[in-house]
Amino acid sequence: MSVLAQQNPEIKITVVDINEERIAAWNDSNLNGLPIYEPGLKEVVQEARGRNLFFSTDVDKAIDEAEMIFISVNTPTKTYGQGKGLAADLKYIELSARQIARVATSDKIVIEKSTLPVRTAQAIKDILDNTGNGVKFQILSNLEFLAEGTAVQDLLNPDRVLIGGEQSEEGKEAMEALVKIYASWIPRERILTTNVWSSELSKLVANAFLAQRVSSINAISELCESTGADVDEVSRAIGMDSRIGPKFLKASVGFGGSCFQKDILNLVYIAKSYGLNEVADYWEQVIIMNDHQKNRFAQNIVSTLYNTVSGKRITFLGWAFKKDTNDTRESAAIYVADALLNERAKIVVYDPKVSEDRIYADLDELNTRTPKENRELVTVVNDPYEACADTHAIAILTEWDEFKEYDWKRIYESVIKPAFVFDGRKLLNPKNMTDIGFHYSAIGVSKRTD
Ligand code: UDX
Repeated sequence: MSVLAQQNPEIKITVVDINEERIAAWNDSNLNGLPIYEPGLKEVVQEARGRNLFFSTDVDKAIDEAEMIFISVNTPTKTYGQGKGLAADLKYIELSARQIARVATSDKIVIEKSTLPVRTAQAIKDILDNTGNGVKFQILSNLEFLAEGTAVQDLLNPDRVLIGGEQSEEGKEAMEALVKIYASWIPRERILTTNVWSSELSKLVANAFLAQRVSSINAISELCESTGADVDEVSRAIGMDSRIGPKFLKASVGFGGSCFQKDILNLVYIAKSYGLNEVADYWEQVIIMNDHQKNRFAQNIVSTLYNTVSGKRITFLGWAFKKDTNDTRESAAIYVADALLNERAKIVVYDPKVSEDRIYADLDELNTRTPKENRELVTVVNDPYEACADTHAIAILTEWDEFKEYDWKRIYESVIKPAFVFDGRKLLNPKNMTDIGFHYSAIGVSKRTD
C-alpha cells in the first residue's frame, strides 16, 4: 500500500488496523521503528506518509470514505475443526466483509489481497450482497507476488500484476479502475486480467511451483551427499537449460516463510475436497520433502557430534526464514532447534534482525516444552563472536551476507575442538573453512573423497 501511495500521489490511501500498537508504530516519527523491516520501505513511507498515505485505527471511517477497499488480513492455516492443519482460516476475511457490509453507504470495489482458497471471492460477495445496505459491490482478486526482503523492488518492478474480476461489464469496469492505479508505474502488458477463480488459483499455484523447485533441489542435495556430486554444480548445469531457468534452485536447510507451506496445504485441502487424491498427494510430497530436509540437517549434526548432543552447546547463526527480513514464520531454524532440543542440546542463537522475544515465542508456539525450559536451554545473544565462543558446533540457518565476512580464524580459536560447522545455506567457502581447521559440511556436498 505504501508503494501504491508513493506512485499515485493524487490517491488518498488509508491503512487501517484494529491493533493500536501496530498503527502507532507505522506512525512513529522514528522510521527505524516501523513494524516491518524491509529494505527501501522506510524511504517509501517517509515520502508518502502524511501526504496521501495515512495509518489509522478508525476502520469504519476509512470504509465509509473509500471507493476501493483492499482486504489484507491474515489467513493462517486452521488450527481447529474441519480442515485443521490444512485449510486456510477465513475468520478474519469474513469479519472484514461483514464490517464493510455494515458500514458502507456508497458503491465500492472490494479487493482481496490476502492469499485465499479458490472461490473465496464468492463468499465475500454473498456476505456483502446479503447483509449490506443495498449498495453495490464489485469483488476483485489482486494477490500479492512480492517476496520478503525484496518486497519494495518486487513491487516497483513486478514480473506481472494479476487482477481477477467478474466477466460482466461492471466487473470489467472495476478491473480497469484497478489497472489504472498500477499502470501509473507498471507497463500495461505486465498487468493481467483474468476471471476471479484463475486469479485466486494462480497465487497458490505460483507458490506451490516455487516451493516444489526448492524441494526438488533439496531432494537432489541428499542424493549429492551420497554420490559425490555437488548440488550447486548440478543446479548450475540444469539451470542453464532455458526451459528450466536458474532461479529457486538453491539447496537449503528447507524453505520457510508465511506462504509456501500454507499455500501448498491449502492446495492439498482444495484438491482433497474435490476428491482429487492423486493431485493432493502429489503436492503434499513437497511438504514431506521439506520436513525431511530440516530433520535430516538436525540428525546429521547429532550423528557427526559422535551421536550425542546432550548438554552440548550448538550455535545457530540465523533464525529468520531467509536473509534481509526479520520474519521467522515457518523458519527452518525453529524446527531444527526443536529437534536438537529433543536431543537435549543447548542452543545459542544470533540473528542480526530477529529479536530475543520472537525466538522464544517461536519455540513456545511449538508447545514441545514449557516456556521455562525453552529459556533455560536456548540463549539469544547480540554478538556473533560471543555466540560462537566455547561452542561444540556452529550451524548456519539463514544466508545473511554478514556471516561470510566474519573473522572465521578468530571464531575457530574460540570454539571447542574438533570445530564443526554445518552450513545449511551453502554460504561459506569450503576450502577457506577447512584450511582454517574446521570440520566443515554443507548441504548437498559429499564428504566422499573417492
Ligand atoms: C514467497 C514468494 O516468492 C512470493 O512470490 C509470494 O508472494 C510469497 O511467498 P517469500 O516467502 O517472501 O515469498 O520468500 P521466497 O524468497 O520465495 O523464499 C521462500 C523460502 O524458500 C525461504 O525460506 C528461502 O530461503 C527458500 N528458498 C528460496 C530456498 O531454499 N532456495 C531457493 O532457491 C529459493
